[in-house]
Amino acid sequence: MDGLVYRIEDLKKEYAGRTVVDIARLDVRAGEVLALVGPSGAGKSTLLRLLNFLEQPTRGRIVYRGESVNGNVPLKTRRQVTTVFQRPVLLRATARANVAYGLGLRGERGDGRIDAMLARVGLGDLAHAPAHKLSGGEMQRVALARALVVDPQVLLLDEPTANLDPYNVGLIEEIVREHNRARGTTIVLVTHNVFQAKRLARRVGLMLGGRLIEIAATKEFFDSAKDPRTAAFVRGDMVY
Ligand SMILES: Nc1ncnc2c1ncn2[C@@H]1O[C@H](COP(=O)(O)OP(=O)(O)OP(=O)(O)O)[C@@H](O)[C@H]1O
Ligand SMILES: [Mg+2]
Repeated sequence: MDGLVYRIEDLKKEYAGRTVVDIARLDVRAGEVLALVGPSGAGKSTLLRLLNFLEQPTRGRIVYRGESVNGNVPLKTRRQVTTVFQRPVLLRATARANVAYGLGLRGERGDGRIDAMLARVGLGDLAHAPAHKLSGGEMQRVALARALVVDPQVLLLDEPTANLDPYNVGLIEEIVREHNRARGTTIVLVTHNVFQAKRLARRVGLMLGGRLIEIAATKEFFDSAKDPRTAAFVRGDMVY
């Protein structure tokens, strides 16, 4: 299991008897950027919630760093994983207070780290602005800073740049790329944007109807997909 952060085995998640995630096997390798693409409703966000231990599998299991984590997940383990959600929920407080929040939960103050992280996401001047009054791109950068400041082992990103302008997309991608390089953080990125997957990921997987249809090295995924559905998705002519 060396070099693996997650191993998913026969994982199923059902809501009211309907299967929304059904993955026989998925390994997430330490330090990689793995992108998951797929149409709306494919189960991408649900899978991220499972990887963040926010949901219990209906069947099967998730092995995290060699330990099966079904049932009660120790706080120590949960704290190694942070998520930037598709619709980030910010506290009605300053940008800085939002970034400080996760550190505070962990009993750390880390003032220098908070300010450095705010500066890193280009929000040094807005540190004391109320987070709920920031622009969409700024809010998303607060959410990213809040997730990164605790220096997680695993960063889960759910559409981190949806609806953002090219400036914010570029900035967020650069921060993610640099954090992965500098800290070796394992990143699972869910995105509708195949270009973003191409730019950031080492491997890409296609989800469809809860299943992982194909997963491959980025170049192979885009240039020589094995599954016709992957090829259709990559060409942009998958109808959904
Ligand atoms: N808590 C829940 N209760 C019932 N059904 C749910 C719940 N969460 C998700 N679902 C259903 O599971 C399916 C997968 O949802 P999910 O949010 O994982 O899709 P997604 O791939 O992230 O889609 P999108 O690209 O639109 O964000 C959807 O049909 C959704 O309605
Ligand atoms: Mg989603």
